[in-house]
Amino acid sequence: MWSTLDRGRWGVCCLSLLATVVCGAQSANEPSNMSYVKATVDKLLKGYDIRLRPDFGGAPVDVGMSIDIASIDMVSEVNMDYTITMYFQQSWRDKRLSYTGIPLNLTLDNRVADQLWVPDTYFINDKKSFVHGVTVKNRMIRLHPDGTVLYGLRITTTAACMMDLRRYPLDEQNCTLEIESYGYTTDDIEFYWQGGSNRGSVTGVENIELPQFSIIDYQTLSKKAVFATGSYPRLSLSFKLKRNIGYFILQTYMPSTLITILSWVSFWINYDASAARVALGITTVLTMTTINTHLRETLPKIPYVKAIDIYLMGCFVFVFLALLEYAFVNYIFFGRGPHLQKKVAEKAAKSNNENKSRLESNKVQVGKGLGVDAHGNILLTNLTSEMSGADMMGALNDPRATMFSYDSASIQYRKPMTSRDLYGRPAIDRPMAHKKGRLRRRASQLKVKIPDLTDVNAIDKWSRVVFPIAFTFFNLVYWLYYVH
Ligand SMILES: *[C@@H]1O[C@H](CO)[C@@H](O)[C@H](O)[C@H]1NC(C)=O
Ligand SMILES: *[C@@H]1O[C@H](CO)[C@@H](O)[C@H](O)[C@H]1NC(C)=O
Ligand SMILES: *[C@@H]1O[C@H](CO)[C@@H](O)[C@H](O)[C@H]1NC(C)=O
Repeated sequence: MWSTLDRGRWGVCCLSLLATVVCGAQSANEPSNMSYVKATVDKLLKGYDIRLRPDFGGAPVDVGMSIDIASIDMVSEVNMDYTITMYFQQSWRDKRLSYTGIPLNLTLDNRVADQLWVPDTYFINDKKSFVHGVTVKNRMIRLHPDGTVLYGLRITTTAACMMDLRRYPLDEQNCTLEIESYGYTTDDIEFYWQGGSNRGSVTGVENIELPQFSIIDYQTLSKKAVFATGSYPRLSLSFKLKRNIGYFILQTYMPSTLITILSWVSFWINYDASAARVALGITTVLTMTTINTHLRETLPKIPYVKAIDIYLMGCFVFVFLALLEYAFVNYIFFGRGPHLQKKVAEKAAKSNNENKSRLESNKVQVGKGLGVDAHGNILLTNLTSEMSGADMMGALNDPRATMFSYDSASIQYRKPMTSRDLYGRPAIDRPMAHKKGRLRRRASQLKVKIPDLTDVNAIDKWSRVVFPIAFTFFNLVYWLYYVH
């Protein structure tokens, strides 16, 4: 009795417990949202004809576009293109895909995109594009209950951007991305920027970091492109890129300016120090050439002159002129010099006494040694041409000896003498050897005085002023013209 009663109680308890457990399990297994969604998707895709656009035969499909820019990876002048990575979204309404009963947006697996109609959008100016494929193809299909389809892709595209490099590197470039429908004309499809025409449909521009450019503006446009096969909808996104000059200041402008200034050091070096001045001139010219060559490697072979070319050519001309200036000074000094000296010597032959007194003063001058002459030149050769008064007198008695003592003293002094005076004489001159010897002696006396030739000094002195002023003026004009 007790036991049956107990058992009965237990039985009731167990039954009720079992019922709750079973009921719970059954509600979990019942056809719920999952299977309902599955049935809905099955129903949508069943009989869906991918070949026909939405509203086939009716009004054109409106496809809205929006772009979220992830990065602009590269802007290449050599290839005239730029590489951009973006999230490219298109959305349109396909009534065949509308559903009821699920108040949710359905984000489906990306493979479903292969079973649905999608617009045949392409980028007109792309050279190479790809949809990222790691870990799965980066695309998204989202259905809305009213049949709106949102189709997203992550794309990297290298798009052509014809650049006008006339003002390079002080230039601004306008690079575009042109989006068009490949096959459908405006009768079948229309494109529009989803956020309206005022840039709302393009995001992420503020976050773009580019090493050489800053984006100062961007614009969206929509228009129609008319071809022989019809007119096609076209959207375009354009960026205005301003090149950052900093890199070029450090890499090109400053070095070439400094090299140009360096070439002027020549004007402060004594004009008979050929080795120093020619070496300086040649080195600066070669350095300018090297800077020019390095720059050329990063640019396409364009036929016109760029802003940086003008600057480099300007610097090159200045450096070259500094070298020419020395060639001129050298010519005046060693080329025209001897003729001048000969004339002076002939005149001097008439007034021997005057000559003697000049010799006295020369001795004094030569004896001074290394120093700065009356025109501010550093007298490098005085260091070597320094002779004692006694040497000088002895040397003057024998013209040959004069030559040799000068030989050891300075190359510059020897050269004109050996070639012109000593061995370069024609045979006709032989009978006049005695007279020539005298002249030569006097010429050698005069040569000590040559550093006083005022025109040579004047050239250097003028150059010291004219070159910096001209270069400053060149810079002023250049920067005013290109920067304004
Ligand atoms: C299942 O669908 C019902 C309406 O049919 C809804 O109230 C419920 O939130 C859905 N459950 C889930 C997990 O989505
Ligand atoms: C579905 O997407 C639309 C548009 O993006 C949004 O406004 C709506 O809130 C979404 N619905 C749900 C249930 O998330
Ligand atoms: C770029 O050039 C196109 C065509 O010349 C022009 O319509 C567009 O406004 C320019 N973009 C910017 C940002 O200035």
